[in-house]
Amino acid sequence: MTQVYKFIRFSNKFVKQHYYNQCSNIVTKLNFSSKNNPAIILGIETSCDDTGMAIVDSNGKILGEALNSQLHVHLPEGGIDPAVARDLHLQNIESVYQECLKSANIDINNVDAIAITLEPGLPLSLVVGKNFSLKLSSKYNKPIIPVHHMQAHALTARLNEKVNFPFLVLLMSGGHCSIVLAQSVNQFKLLGETIDATPGQCFDKVARRLKLINIFEYSNISGGKAIELAAMKADNPDQFHFPTPLVHFRNCNFSFSCLTSSSTYHIDKEEDKYNIILDEIIPGVNNLCAGLIMATIKHICTRLERAMQFVENEKLIPENNKILIISGGVASNNLIAKALDILCLERGFKLIRTPPNLCTDNGVMIAWNGIEKYMANIEIIRNRDEINKLDIKGKSLIGEDWCDIVKSKNIERYRFKIKFNNLLS
Ligand code: KG4
Ligand code: ZN
Repeated sequence: MTQVYKFIRFSNKFVKQHYYNQCSNIVTKLNFSSKNNPAIILGIETSCDDTGMAIVDSNGKILGEALNSQLHVHLPEGGIDPAVARDLHLQNIESVYQECLKSANIDINNVDAIAITLEPGLPLSLVVGKNFSLKLSSKYNKPIIPVHHMQAHALTARLNEKVNFPFLVLLMSGGHCSIVLAQSVNQFKLLGETIDATPGQCFDKVARRLKLINIFEYSNISGGKAIELAAMKADNPDQFHFPTPLVHFRNCNFSFSCLTSSSTYHIDKEEDKYNIILDEIIPGVNNLCAGLIMATIKHICTRLERAMQFVENEKLIPENNKILIISGGVASNNLIAKALDILCLERGFKLIRTPPNLCTDNGVMIAWNGIEKYMANIEIIRNRDEINKLDIKGKSLIGEDWCDIVKSKNIERYRFKIKFNNLLS
């Protein structure tokens, strides 16, 4: 069954009407909701270390939200202990739920369905959200809409902006780095993904190795954000040399482990050179962060450019809809976003940035994904037996794996040139 979306203009706002094109017969969608009588979804996110909830309506209005971040607990430990993350979700989920309802000033009975992240993520964390949602669903007799965490990241930008399918998405977070072709609410093609670490893991590791947590202004923010802020103070971003990974591989995959080891190599050398001990920090810290970000940008742009070429060659995106959406925690990085904006301009694409506050994990993106599915009348589980059979998945691809198809096209390397100073304007 192919979905066809049609947007009509209503009171100066776009209201989505959904139609199904089934065996060439157009039948109207089942879940029609008007601007004045919008659908309302509660979204619940517990895939990693954030307990997030939000209530969003089909006009894209965030009625209420609440988030409990565990960052302050995991940051000093140097990583997430899954059992600790689970315990903190268990400890906080009820209060996050109450706060969310309160901020929306809504009764749970007015919610049409509960959207819940079931995959991928830390299994111990996912289970907490699943159990909580299933209890709510049973108590208030609400349908459940299962959500794929990465698909939710990919579509969040549609909450604020009218973006028609198909479009390209670059997802960059602590758990993922992928280039995806989004074709509909639940149809995605994976064009490239990391073969080892993610940019978020790389930044977090390097921030730890640099001991950035000892600098007051970086003491309670993520490693990635700390690297970004330090990089912006660089006076010589070329001081440290970084390789560009996978240049000889004509695919869209990523590798960040070699950027992590290059950083460690430079830090070791600098620490020896300046006799750095204990909590002291190397003098070139800002330049190192800038060098790492530039290497990340070059790597990402090279892979992305090939993906743009691929979708153009294969006519997978219409000429008038050449759009790149970026999302995930690392997409909140202004330097990386600026570079991608320049690349998009060069390639005739329009960059759409998921708002930085919605890039990192949150309940809004899950509620919005619930709205997308509810309005398209897909994956709404109403049957109690089916709801009780729902399960979590720690690992799961965002969609069909097309990485080898891209590779088989043998698309040449592109030499995107960019200077650090261009990113600061
Ligand atoms: O999407 P997210 O909240 O969680 C998942 O991994 O799913 O992403 C968290 C990651 C962390 O590794 C964090 O260091 C990174 O996103 N991050 C950033 C920035 N803000 C968060 N990386 C680079 N620049 C930032 N401004
Ligand atoms: Zn995420």
